[in-house]
Amino acid sequence: MLHTQHGADSEVDGHALALPVAIAGRLGALGAVDLRRRRGPGGGCPSLGGFLQRAPGLRRKGLAGRGAFGVGWRGHGAGLARTAAKASRLRPRASTAYARALSPNPASAADEGLDARRAALALVAAAGARRNGLDEALSAPGFSRLDTRDRGFARALAMTVLRRRGVLDRALGARLAKPPPEAVLDLLRLGAAQLWGMDTPRHAAVATTVELASRNPATRPFKGLVNAVLRGLLRDPAPEAPPEALAPDWLYARWRAAYGEAAAQAVAALIVEEPAADLTLRDAAEAPILAAELEAEILEGGSLRTRRHGDVTGWPGFAEGRWWVQDASSAIPARLLAAAAGEQVLDLCAAPGGKALQLAATGASVTAVDRSGARLKRLEENLARTGLRAEIVVADAADWADDRRFDAVLLDAPCTATGAFRRHPDALWATRPGDIGRLGELQARLLVSAAGRVRPGGRLVYCVCSLEPEEGEAQIEGFLADHPEFRLDPLAAHEAGAPSGAVTEAGLLRVLPHQRPGGTDGFFAARLVRLPGLAGDDNSGS
Ligand SMILES: C[S@@+](CC[C@H](N)C(=O)[O-])C[C@H]1O[C@@H](n2cnc3c(N)ncnc32)[C@H](O)[C@@H]1O
Repeated sequence: MLHTQHGADSEVDGHALALPVAIAGRLGALGAVDLRRRRGPGGGCPSLGGFLQRAPGLRRKGLAGRGAFGVGWRGHGAGLARTAAKASRLRPRASTAYARALSPNPASAADEGLDARRAALALVAAAGARRNGLDEALSAPGFSRLDTRDRGFARALAMTVLRRRGVLDRALGARLAKPPPEAVLDLLRLGAAQLWGMDTPRHAAVATTVELASRNPATRPFKGLVNAVLRGLLRDPAPEAPPEALAPDWLYARWRAAYGEAAAQAVAALIVEEPAADLTLRDAAEAPILAAELEAEILEGGSLRTRRHGDVTGWPGFAEGRWWVQDASSAIPARLLAAAAGEQVLDLCAAPGGKALQLAATGASVTAVDRSGARLKRLEENLARTGLRAEIVVADAADWADDRRFDAVLLDAPCTATGAFRRHPDALWATRPGDIGRLGELQARLLVSAAGRVRPGGRLVYCVCSLEPEEGEAQIEGFLADHPEFRLDPLAAHEAGAPSGAVTEAGLLRVLPHQRPGGTDGFFAARLVRLPGLAGDDNSGS
């Protein structure tokens, strides 16, 4: 077995790459590895032997350029690249450490943009490690402490990695004979995303990634590999991004089976698209005036869509609580409930509260239940900002001890969120096949509990932002089979702003992300009615 030791001088300079290249040459070409199916062992491995797939000759050329995926983000690392370009003219074959050779002040050059990139790496790692990992990492104190510019860059870079992970992994797989540990893979994804997805100067993308590798004891032994692979990518054209390569294989196969090849392609193609901001208005009558103020279009159903970017808190009408951010699809289920002033309405799994705000804006008396106090805090803040009112309850919706019956109940059940990939591409990669069944059992339990809280003659809307039929259609089918006291109340085509083709023949809502120009979240919803006076009118939740 071949072991290599890489000293501090073996970072970017072409000569320093000779060792792993030679090793790879001696090992011969192995089949390209599919990183999407195999996760790295997770532990550090001191050997680089066998990781490189192939080793084309190294030349100092073609290092200038811009991202090919169309995301522009200037600034970070630009100084380092300028210094690098100048120094490389003076010392074209410098073989010392990148920062030392190319900057009069090694520490500042090597450090430039590193905080932001380290933060991006942490976001990517958290996103891949667990469901909701990205959200948790974004609200961690360490991330909030970064300055605004670093935070913005880190978030943009992490999102670029997550939106393009399928394609990046393919390109990296072609250069790796076997998957390195996940931490090394995340570094490579970070570097490759900057080369192809952002406006980062190409020297800086490589140098900072190698620098990050060298600062972590777990990845330090792989910095030569990181260097070699990224330098190799510098010579590759930006990879093709066919839609089927953008999603995990197993999820894409499910979408194709459920909706057909053409729809699966159209859905997956949206994974790389940055979504516009959709807004829901407190008062629908304000749509024309707010649309003008926000340079927005008015969508069917009344949501506004604006291409504005940046901090929403500074946009017209935010401080006065005249609107809140909510995807146009996500605004449909609360409208389907048709709550009216004076009605008693229950919102189960309510946080952070977009739908609760919609229900409260009808004048109904709203009770919002969620098991997460932290997420309900955001509902509280939004209620204060909009001047709307709701009773807030922190409880598990499945066993909340409350014997009230409500005129209308909305259950927005926890789900895999595979339909919400436009804002949460991490859901695609953090979801495992087993999650669908596990969440399906929870959804079924919550649905039965929600049903028990509907008064005879009352309405129940069940919804999820998942594209998986087991979390949508199958839940309703299973529930109705066991609960003759409920019937389906079919939706009309286009009801509540449903896009064309989104209401099924049976009257269910099944929005696919490509069904609205510019994209929308994938959503499922069904409306049920509790028949008056039938057996099963108890509140046992069984
Ligand atoms: C899809 S989100 C709800 C989004 C929310 N309805 C809105 O419009 O902003 C699902 C929510 O379910 C909550 N949740 C998960 N399991 C729960 C349970 N057993 N009881 C109550 N809430 C639960 C989560 O805390 C999360 O806030």
